[in-house]
Amino acid sequence: MSNAFARNRPLWLALILAVVALALVFVAGWWFGRVAERSHEAKEVAHAAQPAPRDSALGRADLTQIDGLRRGIPVDQEAAPLPMARVQNLDVKRERAYPMQPPTIPHAIDGYQVDKNSNRCMLCHARANAEKFQAPPVSVTHYMDRDDQFLASISSRRYFCNQCHVVQTDAPLLVNNAFEDIDQVLAAAEAGTATAEAAGKVQ
Ligand code: HEC
Ligand code: HEC
Repeated sequence: MSNAFARNRPLWLALILAVVALALVFVAGWWFGRVAERSHEAKEVAHAAQPAPRDSALGRADLTQIDGLRRGIPVDQEAAPLPMARVQNLDVKRERAYPMQPPTIPHAIDGYQVDKNSNRCMLCHARANAEKFQAPPVSVTHYMDRDDQFLASISSRRYFCNQCHVVQTDAPLLVNNAFEDIDQVLAAAEAGTATAEAAGKVQ
């Protein structure tokens, strides 16, 4: 060993120096990393200490503004994000706002694939399968082509269900909505007193 060392002395020295240099670089990197991390943490703490403006003061209460997504928070300030909305999965059919409204979907549709080869929705909503799954079969319009001829299977015009039917979430309203149901309009007209506007506000 000592012979080998003596023979390759410069080589060994270079090796030892390289190892020491590498160790130094490693320690320096670790140390700088910690310093950077601490200053980042400090910034985050400072950020948390002054809370971003919440929607109670600015957004949700004032549903008349159209700036629904930013909720009135100035562009140079970061908004506290609203909680993620959950898809309603109550299995209770909802009222339709007008006779030809595509009904909203009262159940979750996660992972229900609709593509060229398969249509998961029709597993339950096809006329032939509806009984088994106790699902409402798609109405006759879904079997009609554009010339009003009835087809044996779902019309290609109605194949992509989510074009017209959508799930609903529990997200709060972003902007106000003054939609009036035709029954409310008629009731208001009949009553003769209340204006249609007032009827809309009853909701
Ligand atoms: C596992 C069976 C099943 C699948 C798959 C399914 N549904 Fe349903 N669907 C039902 C049942 C059952 C109902 C009746 C209400 C309930 O129990 O949720 C329903 C209700 C509906 C309604 C409400 C109808 C009304 O009159 O209000 C719509 C719209 C609807 N589904 C659309 C879809 C769409 C679009 C898909 C595919 C993305 C789909 N469904 C996939 C079983 C299913
Ligand atoms: C082009 C829009 C459109 C597409 C695409 C569409 N629907 Fe509909 N759907 C409607 C409309 C409008 C209604 C309500 C009037 C009617 O029955 O035609 C309806 C009604 C329904 C109903 C209620 C039927 C009843 O008698 O109460 C179900 C269930 C339904 N659709 C499921 C589906 C499914 C499943 C698909 C995909 C295979 C689909 N729809 C594709 C527009 C559409």
